Amino acid sequence: MATAREIDELAGHFRDAPKTFTTSPLYRALCPVVAGDRPTLEMLAGRRLGQQASYLFFGAAHYLLLGGAEHPVREFYPSLVGPAAADPAGAGPVFRDFCHRFRAELGRLVRGRLVQTNVVRRAVALRYALWAVGQRCPGPVHLVEVGASAGIHLYVDRYRYLLGEQVFGPSDAAITLDSRWLGRLPLPDLDDVPAIASRTGVDLHPVDVADERDRRWLRALVWPENRDAARLLEAALDAVAAEPPVMIAGDAVEVCPELGRHLPAGEPRVVFHAATRMHVPADRRAEFDRAIDSIGDGGPLYHVWQEPPAAPHRGHVADPRGELAMHGPDVDVVVPLLRVDGHLRWLAPLDASA
Ligand SMILES: C[S@@+](CC[C@H](N)C(=O)[O-])C[C@H]1O[C@@H](n2cnc3c(N)ncnc32)[C@H](O)[C@@H]1O
Repeated sequence: MATAREIDELAGHFRDAPKTFTTSPLYRALCPVVAGDRPTLEMLAGRRLGQQASYLFFGAAHYLLLGGAEHPVREFYPSLVGPAAADPAGAGPVFRDFCHRFRAELGRLVRGRLVQTNVVRRAVALRYALWAVGQRCPGPVHLVEVGASAGIHLYVDRYRYLLGEQVFGPSDAAITLDSRWLGRLPLPDLDDVPAIASRTGVDLHPVDVADERDRRWLRALVWPENRDAARLLEAALDAVAAEPPVMIAGDAVEVCPELGRHLPAGEPRVVFHAATRMHVPADRRAEFDRAIDSIGDGGPLYHVWQEPPAAPHRGHVADPRGELAMHGPDVDVVVPLLRVDGHLRWLAPLDASA
């Protein structure tokens, strides 16, 4: 049974959440509906500790609809009906009815699933970080992604990148990632990156790209208006399915120390995490950080992250607009690398004012 305080916190979360759904008018319109719907908030109190409630709940509703759930609320989802979707302003009462009619199914998803949104464009951030690592160490490097979801970013060297006017990556790549570069000067040469000696993903629940339900869950976590991101995701999941990377199931806190011991001694390793530490319960974050540090016991560790600034990492207060940052191995301060949009629709130098 949820406490009154938990319900109040969840209601507050949904009242605040519209500002995070920058590209989803539908979710912005639905947040106040959930904030005022006590049975739904009670259901959400049963989610796994640390999971971001609005991403999880809207993902669960979208999952049912993508799976064919029949309800008039479908008409409001561009992912289901295309650009002719109904005006989100009218969605509130219809969505409330959907939540009540599908309560049991939504409850099962909320209790059993994790926020695993795999944003393909975040490979752009990792690509830039690899360039920065390459300035300090020629490589090759062992790449580890913590919170890898389906493992899409582990193939960072196989994508083509269209960043402003500049193009990087193999010319025959099957997938091209485009992002806006907001700098006045050109980007450095992102083809000058160290080779990847091995790639390993770590996740509480590695997504099985061969499983229709796991795939639909990832698809459901993409906001309904972001049809371009959904297409990229499908293409990247096909690429991962064709050659699944090594993925280790488990909590990073337990997995990382062991993984660090198995990587070849003395060889450099890059550990990347994006939108993952934010889902680690606040009282476990110090353990999470120590577990990542332990990967550096066996060789030089370049620790790179793209996490929201709400939970300061290593005492570093990040740019509130979003940041890519790096730490180690020879310097004991955090090195901010870039300002980045959470979904990497744009990237900017640290000094750009946009
Ligand atoms: C929001 S997703 C981000 C996925 C990917 N990093 C991206 O940016 O596209 C967060 C992932 O972290 C995983 N995760 C959360 N806490 C974790 C932990 N303590 N250990 C390992 N994985 C974790 C979740 O299962 C989920 O797949």
